Amino acid sequence: MRIAIAGATGRVGRHVVAAAEARGHDILPLTRRAGNDLERGTGPAGTPLAAALDGVDAVIDVTSVTTTSAGRSRAFFTAVTEHLLCAERAAGVGHHVALSIVGIDGVDASYFAGKLVQERLVEAGPVPHTILRATQFHEFAEQMTARTSIGRLLTAIPVVRMRPVAARDVGARLVELAEAGPAGRARDLTGPRDERLAALVQQMFAHDGLGRLVVEFPLPGAYGRASASGVLRGGDDATRAAITFDEWLRSADHTSVRPRAVADVAA
Ligand SMILES: NC(=O)c1ccc[n+]([C@@H]2O[C@H](COP(=O)([O-])OP(=O)(O)OC[C@H]3O[C@@H](n4cnc5c(N)ncnc54)[C@H](OP(=O)(O)O)[C@@H]3O)[C@@H](O)[C@H]2O)c1
Repeated sequence: MRIAIAGATGRVGRHVVAAAEARGHDILPLTRRAGNDLERGTGPAGTPLAAALDGVDAVIDVTSVTTTSAGRSRAFFTAVTEHLLCAERAAGVGHHVALSIVGIDGVDASYFAGKLVQERLVEAGPVPHTILRATQFHEFAEQMTARTSIGRLLTAIPVVRMRPVAARDVGARLVELAEAGPAGRARDLTGPRDERLAALVQQMFAHDGLGRLVVEFPLPGAYGRASASGVLRGGDDATRAAITFDEWLRSADHTSVRPRAVADVAA
């Protein structure tokens, strides 16, 4: 198959690429680095996106924007999804695969607001689709640390009850779904164990040899309440992926947070 991967350079995108290549698929990366701007709807050198999708069988969308603004999140996912679906229809692409987040129903706030809009657009759109919802990645621990370190001794982490999954497992599942053809809402994908984000960050610091204190605090608002409540863990009917946080931490998929933290102090 020829598979276009929107967001191919991202945390999960790079695993989608690796899984697709390992299964012998022909890959088309759609990222700004490759000359595409999906928010503006342009292909390389300003050409129409539809031309770039010529001959593509399926598009896997794993783009993202870093924001806690509901407005910015909605604007990003609306623009990217509408541009992709429009170009896919023009190019005759038969399958759109989107990645969303477990447990976000009714949490129309912060980043999740954009994901709800994305799901609605894909469901109502002109291209046969599959939507996979996954829980937070193990990589979320690295991501949060980069945003929440206070000086050299303290990291403040919001209360998040989660069932984290390796981005590698999510990437592999997305490729399986692309191969299987349009299925509507796929079964949710979660990690193997219930965890708490602050404990994972503390464990990661110990593993990376960083003597830093982790303090946990409740985030306000609908997003914070959802994160603390446990709804983001998903239900018992979800598929449980194999890679544990421990295994991920000891693997090459984990990037030590130590150099970044030391660089922060120097700055
Ligand atoms: N992180 C999690 O814990 C988690 C959990 C469940 C679901 N998800 C979902 O997984 C998806 C991917 O998340 P992630 O954490 O892997 O994201 P990420 O690491 O931030 O990667 C985002 C990707 O989007 C591309 N991108 C951003 N703006 C673009 C634009 N205007 N045009 C073209 N490409 C653009 C980036 O490439 P360039 O910068 O090169 O353009 C990059 O490849 C998101 O939809 C997210 O909601 C994430």
